[in-house]
Amino acid sequence: MKTDILLTVVLILIFPCVVQGVLIEDWLIRTLLQDYNELAYPGTTDNETVVVKHDMSLLRIVEFDGTKLTIDTWLGTEWRDPRLCWASSPTNIRLPISKIWTPDIVLYDNPDTRTRFEPNAVVDQSGLVYFSLPIRLEVDNCRQSQDEFKCTFKFGSWTFDGFKIDLQNRSQVIDLSNFQHHNSYEIKDTSVVRNVVYYPCCEEPYPDITYSVYLKRRKTGWFDRL
Ligand SMILES: *[C@@H]1O[C@H](CO)[C@@H](O)[C@H](O)[C@H]1NC(C)=O
Ligand SMILES: *[C@@H]1O[C@H](CO)[C@@H](O)[C@H](O)[C@H]1NC(C)=O
Repeated sequence: MKTDILLTVVLILIFPCVVQGVLIEDWLIRTLLQDYNELAYPGTTDNETVVVKHDMSLLRIVEFDGTKLTIDTWLGTEWRDPRLCWASSPTNIRLPISKIWTPDIVLYDNPDTRTRFEPNAVVDQSGLVYFSLPIRLEVDNCRQSQDEFKCTFKFGSWTFDGFKIDLQNRSQVIDLSNFQHHNSYEIKDTSVVRNVVYYPCCEEPYPDITYSVYLKRRKTGWFDRL
């Protein structure tokens, strides 16, 4: 009798609730990640080029001193990984980026820029992977011409050439739809340019995406308004 009660208590502790139906993602995620090597980039013998698309959303100006600009951004990265394809439902899943291969796209001016937050990537059943990284970026390359300042943020793969990672822009502009008003400066314009550099030694291209931010000091004091 005592053991019966004990058993019931133990069972209640182990199975506090009942799963009804089958977990939607359980089998799929286990199957996809079984034998998945997150160190192997998704190029194949049929096609070694992985197209990686990059975009930037500018949230706020943290600091600007005329030369050095610090901004908070969301950086979007998108590519296709043929290992992450499936035919059944669900149509998409979320996976922590540490569990899958991700391209080593860095800000060249400051490659050790890091964030402690590890976002999920959204993976759709055709193998399209997208993640958005909230990150603070700093450059000290701002140049003034007349009353405008131009600061550039250049991104590229740290180790892959353009035959392996074909870096492309996902958008023609920096997304400003979440930009927070800054008291002293306004954004006059932005631009996104894809550059390709070739070096004398080698035949492979080295693509980069360069984001430019054009800043202008707001007219605030009575003196400015004269
Ligand atoms: C390789 O794959 C990329 C991305 O899917 C595609 O743009 C490119 O055309 C492919 N190249 C060949 C030779 O199939
Ligand atoms: C990438 O940038 C170029 C130049 O700004 C632009 O013409 C092109 O449309 C952009 N690509 C996408 C997908 O927006």
